[in-house]
Amino acid sequence: MLRPVSATNSSNPVLGRAASDLIEIKDLNFKYFGSTTPVLQNVNLTVKNNEIVLIAGHSGSGKSTLLRAINGLIPHQHSGDYSGEVLVDGLKVSETSMSVLALKVGYIFQNPENQIFMFSVERDVAFGLENLALPQAEMRERVDWAMELLQIKSLALRAPHELSDGQKQRVAIAGVLAMKPKILILDEPTSLLDPFTAKSLVNLIRDLRSTLGITVLIVEHRLDLVAKICDRMVVVDKGTVVLEGSPREILSKTDVSLFGVTEPTIVKLSKRLSLEGEKLALDAQELTTALKPVA
Ligand SMILES: Nc1ncnc2c1ncn2[C@@H]1O[C@H](COP(=O)(O)OP(=O)(O)OP(=O)(O)O)[C@@H](O)[C@H]1O
Ligand SMILES: [Mg+2]
Repeated sequence: MLRPVSATNSSNPVLGRAASDLIEIKDLNFKYFGSTTPVLQNVNLTVKNNEIVLIAGHSGSGKSTLLRAINGLIPHQHSGDYSGEVLVDGLKVSETSMSVLALKVGYIFQNPENQIFMFSVERDVAFGLENLALPQAEMRERVDWAMELLQIKSLALRAPHELSDGQKQRVAIAGVLAMKPKILILDEPTSLLDPFTAKSLVNLIRDLRSTLGITVLIVEHRLDLVAKICDRMVVVDKGTVVLEGSPREILSKTDVSLFGVTEPTIVKLSKRLSLEGEKLALDAQELTTALKPVA
């Protein structure tokens, strides 16, 4: 069911929160220091363990700001007027240091150049771990594990700056996964990638969720690529969550272009063929299957 925004929390009144709730945002408001208008307004959102959640909305609607409120950049590095509460794995973000939060939340920027610092891929993957004072053997093991997982082991000694954008994105993801976070946040990770590389990154994210049991939040404009792998879609407009539901429910019932989201061509075609609700096709394969009885 499409859930209206206010009916958000599945908290257990006895325990305070459901055991499966990994991120809980309650009545969050935020205004950047020096600005006149609030960016986040009364945001309530719960993310369960092992979900993949897509965040979509107009440019400037507050998507990246919302992600920063989860990884702690807000309020720790961006000051401003902050009220409400964000809990990550039970920890209050506003009272937890960035170094502790980095063990819970891995953050991938739009441009991997922003998180590539070292002269070789393996040193780069190890970069975050160096602050954890791990024994050398464990560090080596984690770096090898992450490079294997992201299929970049053959690039271990290469200079990251010589790699393609898709490979750089994999190096950045390996670096955050080596920290073994419970949550992976990706802010427009495919925007610099060609369609083929973007699709393989999206498939990788889908597989990481299954193999690692990780929880994923992804901001992405290319719904045609991600709608199928996401359990839930959250639409943000003017700093408020206005729609929440499965991508199929939202895309079936709502004209998402009103919120700056491009409706995938397959979805448009599916609607014209009156394949709506549960039958709405999110990709070419689903459309082909739905049309088989007609052919
Ligand atoms: N560091 C900052 N200081 C002041 N204002 C900011 C800052 N970062 C973002 N903003 C403002 O907050 C609003 C929301 O920005 P945000 O980057 O969160 O939007 P977005 O939905 O991620 O947009 P886009 O799709 O273009 O990435 C915008 O008006 C933006 O100008
Ligand atoms: Mg953004």
